[in-house]
Amino acid sequence: MSRNIAIDGPAGAGKSTIAREAAKQLGFIYVDTGALYRSIGLYALRNGVATDNAAEVEKLLPAIKVELKYLDGVQKVFLNGEDVSEAIRKPECSMAASDVSAIPSVRSFLLELQLKMARENDVIMDGRDIGTVILPNADVKIFLTATPEERANRRFKELVEKGENPDYDKLLDEINQRDYNDSHREVAPLKQADDAILFDTTKLGKEEVVTELLRIIAEKLEGEY
Ligand code: DC
Repeated sequence: MSRNIAIDGPAGAGKSTIAREAAKQLGFIYVDTGALYRSIGLYALRNGVATDNAAEVEKLLPAIKVELKYLDGVQKVFLNGEDVSEAIRKPECSMAASDVSAIPSVRSFLLELQLKMARENDVIMDGRDIGTVILPNADVKIFLTATPEERANRRFKELVEKGENPDYDKLLDEINQRDYNDSHREVAPLKQADDAILFDTTKLGKEEVVTELLRIIAEKLEGEY
């Protein structure tokens, strides 16, 4: 049986960086489910469809094929055969993804792909509803979070390092808005599963978070076997 680790939490909590690193050390596949919603958001943007228009977005779904592939352990997401792994990282795709992720038919459209990945592989899967909806029987569930200010601060530093000139208040606004969107939608809202371990990373650096995460995972997995 494959082993499944679910990591959920709000935007910018560092889930992907941390989960990717932990997966590498454990020899698990890292599945970034946000990339799936981002691909649908990108497709809607490219086709001039308002991402919050459920009926219109739903009409697009039959023409969409999303696939995940792994090249040297790195996840690549393909939209109708095109590698969109870079394109979906554009800022406009973040809100677009958050919008389309509130549409029930979009969530069910992406369900089987996520289940298949978890059935066939040892995975660390990150998202918003992994521990609550997608993998309710995951071996380990972690809810990774940090204050909105700290998350905006990390994003700010990341952009400065890339040579950009970000506006901290705008970043904080975007984070607060996405938190609100993601946790107030009707289907599969962002929420800590009852049996998830809450891990607040506000005061910790990346290395400390990875070490602690691996400790939590090892403790849980050992307890099971
Ligand atoms: O993790 P991310 O920032 O790439 O996710 C983009 C959006 O997709 C996020 O705002 C909410 C949505 N999402 C979701 O609803 N469920 C998931 N499992 C993953 C992401």
